[in-house]
Amino acid sequence: MKTFSLINFPLENKTVLLRVDYNVPLEKRKVVDNSKIKLSLPTIKYLLEKNCKIVLATHLGRPQGKINPELKVDPIVKELKKLLPKQTITKFNHCFGQEIKQKIKKAEAKQIFLLENLRFYPEEKNNDPVFAHSLANLADVYINEAFSNSHRQHASMSAITRFLPAFPGPQLEKEIFFLNKALKPKKPAVWIIGGGKLDKVKFVEQALKKADQVLLGGALAFPFLRANGIRIGMSKIDAHAVRLAKKILQKRKFRKKITLPIDFVVAKKLSPREETAVVNYNEIKSEQITLDLGPKTVELFKKHLTKAKTIVWNGPLGYFEYVKFAQATKEIGRFLGKLDCLKIAGGGETATAINKFHLAHNFTHVSTGGGASLMFLSGEKLPALKALEKNYTKFRKKIKK
Ligand code: 3PG
Repeated sequence: MKTFSLINFPLENKTVLLRVDYNVPLEKRKVVDNSKIKLSLPTIKYLLEKNCKIVLATHLGRPQGKINPELKVDPIVKELKKLLPKQTITKFNHCFGQEIKQKIKKAEAKQIFLLENLRFYPEEKNNDPVFAHSLANLADVYINEAFSNSHRQHASMSAITRFLPAFPGPQLEKEIFFLNKALKPKKPAVWIIGGGKLDKVKFVEQALKKADQVLLGGALAFPFLRANGIRIGMSKIDAHAVRLAKKILQKRKFRKKITLPIDFVVAKKLSPREETAVVNYNEIKSEQITLDLGPKTVELFKKHLTKAKTIVWNGPLGYFEYVKFAQATKEIGRFLGKLDCLKIAGGGETATAINKFHLAHNFTHVSTGGGASLMFLSGEKLPALKALEKNYTKFRKKIKK
């Protein structure tokens, strides 16, 4: 992709709008996994060395265009202050406006600001150019260091690049470097897709075009089981996901590449103290929730993985937050350490699980992007990356490289 490069650009004393993905897991308003924040630190430090003022912008959760006090970015500010104790970090309660602009203008170099959750504004999701312009108005330069949100055509990811020079951040470039390696994979390529976001079903078809085998776990297996007429008790499901799964399963060439779980760990409630049982996939009772893959499925997955030359893993295989339901995710993660091939993991939840169980060393690369890495690896161009390319074409004559 042809974009500007930060290294060649005179950044000294500029105000930079740094789009980050601090969409981190919270518990009781505390950040429970700060890895996404930590990943942005080298870029922040680089900009500080260049005497820049930094305006950080992020989304948090899915507040549907409305203010949600639970999703304000204050816990992130706390975490940032811990990680950058020498820096002055100011949080704004909004994302744009004269007051904010003046405060940034009057501030000394090396000050850091954090805007409120971008997704409190419906304009963010609608890729609204007026909203994007108001954001752009706060800075001289824009940097996208939010690879994991680059599949979203949102105002702070896409429309904003119409108004000021826009750069890929070093972390984003690193993501692309490694994901490119898996884009033309050595065969056989095996993908594991799991996690709790049912909207990822639409990527399964793309994955099936690239992979030789797709192993489905987590909540993502449910629409496929349901489409096959299997009862899945009280497990998470939605009708749209089932319709998509049915369409995929109708194609023979896809059907034979899909491996579905053959047994599950089930419980009556999602609770760490709840009694559990292991049942076959076709024996789930109506009052049971499936919360992890069973041991037979783990063995089946291992068989496929052993043959692979490229492995892509996106989404945990069970409700790993509770020890009782973390077994499949842990065991597959450990098993990957024994295999000598290209191993790319992707996704916020996946990265959280990998960090929690200290498995990062078992992978060639752990991408922060879930949906973003799936879309990238299925060969589709990410809207935010397209926007960076367009920006280069538009601004290259206006600014010195
Ligand atoms: C992620 O965590 O994958 C990104 O922050 C994107 O979040 P989203 O799926 O809510 O758009």
